[in-house]
Amino acid sequence: MTKTINGFSKLSKQEKINWLAEHFSTEPQTFIDEISGWQHPDPQVQRIVDGFTENAIANYVLPYSIAPNFLINGKTYAVPMVIEESSVVAAASSAAKFWQERGGFHAEVLDTVKLGQVHFRWFGSAARLREVFPDLKSVLLASCADLTTNMEKRGGGVRDISLIDFEQVEPNYYQLRVAFETCDSMGANFVNSVLERFAGTLEDFFTDYSALSDVERDVEVVMSILSNYTPDCLVRAWVECPISSFADLARSQGMDAVTLAERFAMAVRIAQIDPYRATTHNKGIYNGIDAVVLATGNDFRAIEACGHTYAGRDGQYRSLSSCTVQDGMFHFELEVPLALGTVGGLTALHPLAKRSLEILGHPSARELMCITAVVGLAQNFGAVRSLITTGIQQGHMKMHLTNILNHLAASEEDAAAAQYFFQAQTVSFSSVRAFLEERK
Ligand code: MEV
Repeated sequence: MTKTINGFSKLSKQEKINWLAEHFSTEPQTFIDEISGWQHPDPQVQRIVDGFTENAIANYVLPYSIAPNFLINGKTYAVPMVIEESSVVAAASSAAKFWQERGGFHAEVLDTVKLGQVHFRWFGSAARLREVFPDLKSVLLASCADLTTNMEKRGGGVRDISLIDFEQVEPNYYQLRVAFETCDSMGANFVNSVLERFAGTLEDFFTDYSALSDVERDVEVVMSILSNYTPDCLVRAWVECPISSFADLARSQGMDAVTLAERFAMAVRIAQIDPYRATTHNKGIYNGIDAVVLATGNDFRAIEACGHTYAGRDGQYRSLSSCTVQDGMFHFELEVPLALGTVGGLTALHPLAKRSLEILGHPSARELMCITAVVGLAQNFGAVRSLITTGIQQGHMKMHLTNILNHLAASEEDAAAAQYFFQAQTVSFSSVRAFLEERK
């Protein structure tokens, strides 16, 4: 039976499901029933969700969770998080509580520059291009006035255009690097529209500019697109406290506060030294960041791609967070680029993204940058704290146990007994199944 198809996108949703069932499932009717069950009961909502992509056949469900008690710059937030991994929300909530009692989290936006590029080839000399660039720049700026008016009213627009010369690495290759301020929107459509206008203007400019020779009129735009690397759309989040306020935590682990703080700082330094550890360390940070980014309808791929490039900005991939233990104080901070939006795109369309922003008190993009960075820092704090004390398996296994109990359809009573029993036992699928069998 052939498994290829022409015109899949033209089929109705039900036809798509039927075709998949027929060609890919060993139990077609169950497949159809199950997939058909993952639809929103309100057809209007379903239509909106289906509109996000093409060929949608169902909704893929992830938990929508809340991490409460985040005290950030003196304001308390309950933070929505969308994530499938056990322990992440529990760790965030626990870190939030821990720091709530120690002055809370602090965060500041360092800048909010978004970037875009027009990549082009030009066949005159680099020196000549630099000479005409001031004229080109004014023409470019004038050419996008109609596109930027509204953004300018909101305080944004094109901040600057620079000419970058890559002649030495790729003959005739240059770039217009354009800096934007997009206020509360992530701004991808705005940036890309302006860049495509610049591409056209660039070609016209060289054709029309009277003081150029024939070879200098020859320009070829390769592509125009925003850059997801926005090192100057940057936020810093930090916590600090006297080392002595780790006393209780340290005592519960059979350590003193200084040892705990220093071991924590050492763990963070290891992630600065070693890319293998740095990758996992930063992954833990993105456990928190991605969950908030998803919950608020932002683009987690863009956010991750940017953060990882930033983590390698000096030529080696390193930890995004840093920690100092000095003069009796513990200071832990995260500096991370986060090009986020709170208006437009999915933030306005996805019903739960809208609710997330409502729960967060309708934040500006800057405020959301602060909240998101703080959750990344909290997650990192929780992970490193576990790693240098109990290890992470204790927390993971507790959540894992719940998943296994759900999978085995344990009754409430059996589940409670299992939670109690496995406090002191190693959790595995077979050991939990054996425990439940015993109780029958
Ligand atoms: C697991 O998703 C994340 C951690 O591995 C992060 C870390 O090791 O720092 C716990």
